[in-house]
Amino acid sequence: MQTDSSFTFVLFGGTGDLSMRKILPALFEAHRAGGMLADSGKIVAVARHATDRGEYIQWVNEHVKPHVSKNGVDESAWASFLERIEFVNIDLGKAEDFVHLRDAIQDLPGIRVFYLATGPSLFVPICHALASVGLNANSRIVLEKPLGYDLKSSNAINDAVGEIFAEEQIYRIDHYLGKEPVQNLLALRFGNALFEPLWRREWVESIQITIAEELGVEARGDFYDNTGALRDMVQNHLLQLLSIVAMEPPHSMDSDSVRDEKLRVLRALKPIDPRDIGKVAVRGQYHSGVIRGTAVPAYATEPGVKPESATETFVALKVEIENWRWAGVPFFLRTGKRLADRVAEIVVNFRAVPHSALGASALRAGANRLVIRLQPNETIRLYCLAKQPGEGMNLASVHLDLAFDQFFREGQMEAYQRLLLDVINGRLALFVRRDEQEAAWRWVEPILNEWKASNKPPKPYASGTWGPAASSAMLAQHGTCWLEEEN
Ligand code: BG6
Repeated sequence: MQTDSSFTFVLFGGTGDLSMRKILPALFEAHRAGGMLADSGKIVAVARHATDRGEYIQWVNEHVKPHVSKNGVDESAWASFLERIEFVNIDLGKAEDFVHLRDAIQDLPGIRVFYLATGPSLFVPICHALASVGLNANSRIVLEKPLGYDLKSSNAINDAVGEIFAEEQIYRIDHYLGKEPVQNLLALRFGNALFEPLWRREWVESIQITIAEELGVEARGDFYDNTGALRDMVQNHLLQLLSIVAMEPPHSMDSDSVRDEKLRVLRALKPIDPRDIGKVAVRGQYHSGVIRGTAVPAYATEPGVKPESATETFVALKVEIENWRWAGVPFFLRTGKRLADRVAEIVVNFRAVPHSALGASALRAGANRLVIRLQPNETIRLYCLAKQPGEGMNLASVHLDLAFDQFFREGQMEAYQRLLLDVINGRLALFVRRDEQEAAWRWVEPILNEWKASNKPPKPYASGTWGPAASSAMLAQHGTCWLEEEN
């Protein structure tokens, strides 16, 4: 991935958590790798908690350096990376201050990228202020999630931003789309003739998509308590994964071909009937418990969280897609904080053989299964039945593994690195288009409304478990269970 295109990467929220943990480390990795970023490319940080470049660089050294290169920092690369960084001190609330930003960057060559790693309430004021000093031309804008709180507020932001930037200048980031195994899912599905004929209702019994975290809400209690897992994870990451799993083969990998197909899936999601919500949606909230031997507190006692909070930290859903390929196949989605393990995976359960000449054990569930593990230990694992050695026809489940780090020892890229390079190079395929985002909000909103109207608290679950029992019960009703294997 080489670039000779110069750029000015303006980072709003330059001392925020995201900049510290993800954005600046990803830019550093791209810099360190060599050849990915044009030598003349600059990073211009706009941040509240620094007054000048010296102070900002000191902050970067103290806070960002610990997050780069797990295997030790390449000091000379780090020193040359710091040379790329400039700093502008402006008050984001004062449009007139943006003149200073313009003066600082207007003579720099190449495309301008404005990365809004700020709270969403600043998105529109920043866009207006950029436009007021003419900085919306020859530029791209990156919007972090959450983009709005519901369909209405997300439309309001999109309308306002859309008056200033054209859709092809807008990069709505969903970092799950940048993960290597998600890309690999596209390669698996559309690069091999083997799977595609099976990838449909005739052969697939059910699909599970899990994003489980061991972490709690960390320092984000305040934000999270007004958000919840449905908005934080389902509306974006889980529905994006679902649309990639279920989409029709696109005509090409260009940005609109892929996004058109994903949109068709999102529009085909069977609307949830509020009367059925108890059968198809489970919400939970973590209580205290033990994770890897350490006692952890209940959500309601986390800093920033209201003690009587009814915010969900766990969601499980049964989703259906109303089209020819998927009619009647349940897609089970699940995400939660403080669960038993950190794992993100997609499980495709194929149907059992229609008749077993090999005896009852050949009908056993769990063998005809494809597991795409997104993290940790990225693998694609195909479970099959095989004969156990020895006398008699005794069958056992075995698996074929594609472990990416064994095949491809080099070149693995973090999601943010890939996505930032895509923004700089003008590749939109892995960013969420406005109509996709609207379709996702439209589908989740009735669930949010129903939960709010019902006034029922979320179901409690102990930290370190797999969530409320109702989540397993929902799958049991369909004769299946969540795949919960040791890492
Ligand atoms: C973010 C959510 O989008 O994704 C966080 O806001 C969550 O709450 C995170 O922890 C999970 O991402 P990853 O890549 O660590 O699985």
